[in-house]
Amino acid sequence: MIEIQNKNTSIDYQTVAEKIKNSGLKTVGRSSIREIVRLVNEIEQATGEKFIRMEMGVPGLAPPEVGTQAEIEALKAGVASKYPMIEGVAHLKDEIARFVKNFLDIDVSRNSCIPTVGSMQGSFGAFLLTSLLDSKKDTILFIDPGFPVQKQQMDVLGLKSEAFDVYNFRGEALREKLESYLKKGNISAILYSNPNNPSWICFTDTELKIIADLAKQYDVIVMEDLAYFAMDFRKDYSVPGQAPYQPTVAKYTDNWLMFISSSKSFSYAGQRVGMMVISDTLFSREYRTLEAKFGNPSFGYNMIYKVLYALSSGVSHAPQYGLAAMLKAVNDGKYDFVAEIREYGERAAIMKRLFTDNGFKIVYDKDENEPLADGFYFTFSYPGMDGVELLERLIYYGISAISLAITGSERVEGLRACVSQTQRSQFEALEQRLRLFNQNHK
Ligand SMILES: Cc1ncc(COP(=O)(O)O)c(C=O)c1O
Repeated sequence: MIEIQNKNTSIDYQTVAEKIKNSGLKTVGRSSIREIVRLVNEIEQATGEKFIRMEMGVPGLAPPEVGTQAEIEALKAGVASKYPMIEGVAHLKDEIARFVKNFLDIDVSRNSCIPTVGSMQGSFGAFLLTSLLDSKKDTILFIDPGFPVQKQQMDVLGLKSEAFDVYNFRGEALREKLESYLKKGNISAILYSNPNNPSWICFTDTELKIIADLAKQYDVIVMEDLAYFAMDFRKDYSVPGQAPYQPTVAKYTDNWLMFISSSKSFSYAGQRVGMMVISDTLFSREYRTLEAKFGNPSFGYNMIYKVLYALSSGVSHAPQYGLAAMLKAVNDGKYDFVAEIREYGERAAIMKRLFTDNGFKIVYDKDENEPLADGFYFTFSYPGMDGVELLERLIYYGISAISLAITGSERVEGLRACVSQTQRSQFEALEQRLRLFNQNHK
């Protein structure tokens, strides 16, 4: 535990110190998201004070009515008693393919569009299958910072990974750095999220093209995690079939698969339904290793009928109907999903200013030369303190976040803030707490 000299904190010092001591956490500032959640729940309960909760990326908005209604109707029609097809409900597959065309400007057949139990299951399955393709390529490369649970999936699977923090390798500098890994010949796939959790950097088209070119050259599969689809609010990606489109590596290579989560872009996290889309070329690509193991050489076939079958035998029926209805409304131009979530960008702009007005700095702040977008997450630091210490100190001021140190970031001074749970009515409390923190630490 760190020593708090100035005990004039926003939340009762004694209670926080006691809860931290009893939490069993070795270093609060290095805790996982769920550990911070538990600690803060306990402090809130003991003090009756509400925290500014920025540790967990849960949607702070209501789910779309069209999805809920479609699920109710599907349940009333009796889908609960039937096993869903593992490849997905037919009309959902059609709507996913339309969505990919409308919002990424990429052509893909319905066969290559597969529902998964959240993007979480998609990445688990993809890590598993790509590790079986070539015995020399036994490692997945993460362009970090990244989502810690995906590393946990690699650990659970017992697979090898390598990673680098992209902070110092933006733009053309990415090429040499990426190639230094790929040329070793052990990388089967590259994974990154775009927009990025936790830093909210968004790759530029120059960078996506570099990733695609090198993936082609070294025959590496690109796994593009679009968990925050269309949430770079600097551009308007909301109009179906009309530019600008959500940037994607799929424009520059056909050796890709992508995960499109419904959790944040559609506020549908609780239903655990996401989309895995595989390029038609990769879907039908044949591997001798797969044939030897599963009796069928096709990448796509094995993803569905071996991997996803073994993991969960498909996705619950009702959420597939809910997602299909939301996508249909969006594809038909009847529902603007981006309008709903733009709120996050507006909150972020205000919250970032509250931090910087009170002595804090934004850590990841640029996409090449352009200022970073305001969105679901931002990263911040306080001069003279590393992130682990900063996080523990902020707990005494009723503010929770996570340390960048657990995300593969080399910016160990930084924390990640998620804006989704902070309501506008809490901005005043946030400002007061940040001001007091700054006064006590200047
Ligand atoms: C980068 C990233 N990928 C994947 C996920 C998981 O998405 P899902 O809820 O669809 O499983 C998240 C959730 O926070 C995420 O941030």
